Amino acid sequence: MDLGIRGRTAIVCASSQGLGKACARALAEAGVALVINGRNRKRLDDAADEIREATGADVTPVAADVSTAEGQAALLAVCPAPGILVNNNGGPPDRDFRELDRQAMLAGVTMNMVTPIELIQKVIDAMAARGFGRIVNTTSISVKMPLPGLDLSSGARAGLTAFVAGVARKFADKNITINNLLPGSFDTQRLRVGFAAASKKSGQPESALAAQAMAEIPAKRFGTPAELGQTCAFLCSVHAAYITGQNILLDGGAYPAAF
Ligand SMILES: NC(=O)c1ccc[n+]([C@@H]2O[C@H](COP(=O)([O-])OP(=O)(O)OC[C@H]3O[C@@H](n4cnc5c(N)ncnc54)[C@H](OP(=O)(O)O)[C@@H]3O)[C@@H](O)[C@H]2O)c1
Repeated sequence: MDLGIRGRTAIVCASSQGLGKACARALAEAGVALVINGRNRKRLDDAADEIREATGADVTPVAADVSTAEGQAALLAVCPAPGILVNNNGGPPDRDFRELDRQAMLAGVTMNMVTPIELIQKVIDAMAARGFGRIVNTTSISVKMPLPGLDLSSGARAGLTAFVAGVARKFADKNITINNLLPGSFDTQRLRVGFAAASKKSGQPESALAAQAMAEIPAKRFGTPAELGQTCAFLCSVHAAYITGQNILLDGGAYPAAF
């Protein structure tokens, strides 16, 4: 399918590996020129090379912490008026909520709620002036379903979800859409780090913990980053212009509800 976005530009935050990189790759396949981002310069440059070689896309890597004002300024300096913004970031570490002090809570809310809102503020007027804008936020299944140890992540992302629900409607008549992707369990470094930590605590092998987690998912497997990336690209396409303010679960059926 031609997504109708060839020649558009995108800023894809936190995209040197995992879900962000998969979104960048899928947009590159659709002919979009990219700004990709991560803090580790080597990993970021490798990702840029990989995407360029595979797709021929124009890829500009910006090594920066997207949660900081300087990081956001660096992204916007190379692409001041993107047609597409994919908001992604790291997530707060797995932690009992009683261990979170004020600083940790503010850092989590900054990462997963404030940062995407700040970037939306900075790009949306130019999108409106041009009559095209696609904004996709990676949130989590935890917005709908509590996950032990991830309360801060869930709360911050639920805050983002509620915040952009109003903004999406305000800009719907400008051909700007804002949607959220809610990943369940995807096979990324973050997931693997989680199993490694759980293995240390429990003494069970990582492979056994992963097998147990997969068995609990109706699809009996983890999602592949490419599956999420292609969904992101579709939401950025001309065909998805009438989808806005939505929360799209990608979870292999893990969230147990009819709707
Ligand atoms: N994987 C899942 O199953 C799953 C499920 C639900 C939600 N999520 C959420 O989806 C997001 C992406 O997850 P993932 O699994 O793709 O993680 P990942 O494999 O750990 O990749 C995270 C990416 O974000 C970059 N990054 C992290 N912090 C950054 C920052 N402050 N500024 C710029 N770049 C930053 C990392 O590069 P550097 O470290 O070099 O900066 C890396 O490229 C996370 O918020 C995660 O909580 C994931």
